Amino acid sequence: MSNRPLILVTGGAGYIGSHTIIELLASGFDVVSADNYANSSARTYERIQQITGITVDHEEVDLNQYENCKRIFEKYPRISGIIHFAAFKSVPESVANPYSYYSNNLGSLLHLLKCAETFAVNQFIFSSSCSVYGNIQSLPVSEQTPLNAVESPYAATKLMGETILRDCVLASEKLRGIALRYFNPAGAHPTALNGELPINAPNNLVPVITRTAMGLIPSFTVFGSDYDTRDGTCIRDYIHVCDIARAHVMALQALQENKITTRFDLFNLGSGNGVTVLEAIQSFEKMSGIKPNYKLGERRAGDVMAIFSDSSKAATILNWQPRHSLDEMMDSAWKWELQLAKERV
Ligand SMILES: NC(=O)c1ccc[n+]([C@@H]2O[C@H](COP(=O)([O-])OP(=O)(O)OC[C@H]3O[C@@H](n4cnc5c(N)ncnc54)[C@H](O)[C@@H]3O)[C@@H](O)[C@H]2O)c1
Repeated sequence: MSNRPLILVTGGAGYIGSHTIIELLASGFDVVSADNYANSSARTYERIQQITGITVDHEEVDLNQYENCKRIFEKYPRISGIIHFAAFKSVPESVANPYSYYSNNLGSLLHLLKCAETFAVNQFIFSSSCSVYGNIQSLPVSEQTPLNAVESPYAATKLMGETILRDCVLASEKLRGIALRYFNPAGAHPTALNGELPINAPNNLVPVITRTAMGLIPSFTVFGSDYDTRDGTCIRDYIHVCDIARAHVMALQALQENKITTRFDLFNLGSGNGVTVLEAIQSFEKMSGIKPNYKLGERRAGDVMAIFSDSSKAATILNWQPRHSLDEMMDSAWKWELQLAKERV
């Protein structure tokens, strides 16, 4: 039997989960993934296998059912840590259908926390989001920045998820937890063998750009061109998915090595660069040589005007720093889209 720590990755067939599995396997961890393919497919495990040479154990389960969660821990008693990605993640969908967002995102978290306590799993990492900051006036945002009202049910599930994790950690004898607040993950694995491939229509900017450039979508809308920003479009902080994945491994290692003095902590994961939507499109055009078809449209409910990070806490405590530029994100995302086109023929 392997003596490598076994980590349960929920949502491991999804975008960030799959890149994190690749990073975990390369860093001396064993992995079991749990996913119900609500927004992904089991084909992801073949992609992970192609990249790492390892066939990852995986379970098809809806984690929003306690019995399903429990069965995983009974089947894999070696699990020593949980990285919890599984959630619904679309801001506009959450505005339209708040019940399913509160139910799925909070239900799964609660069941996993109960299992962590029952099965004595002491390390828990939670996918949070910069959306917890709301509409912030003073930028960049650090973990010290006071939170404003959240703008969507999705963001509310992330803020509540952090609170639930913190309270459960503080009430537990042994559980320790970290919430990682991602800014805007983008890009794909450098091999072009894995990347963002949602089942549901993508809402994130980069897959929308690449799909439009590929001709899969006729055109896309830039939501809002009258914001008080340098070109009128929203400002976001794009961060390479491989940088985000690496941060999870470093957070897990920090927990294992007792490098974090508090029982619960949270960290921003961003590049620190605020980029407008039009600047992001220009970076894509530069890297691909293609001008995607888009139009300027109305603002979208739930969107904040501008946000970018101060991620110095992750640099100081986790020793994490982003390695990839915006151009690299666009380049790798485009190569991934080209790879998908090859698979379709
Ligand atoms: N991608 C982003 O822009 C972003 C930004 C901030 C935070 N996050 C958070 O990071 C996490 C991962 O995001 P992602 O971009 O990889 O999304 P994703 O949709 O690609 O991955 C999420 C995975 O969870 C699975 N899932 C959802 N509900 C489930 C359930 N009840 N049981 C089992 N599996 C379930 C989906 O099938 C999917 O494979 C999410 O929690 C998301 O909210 C994402």
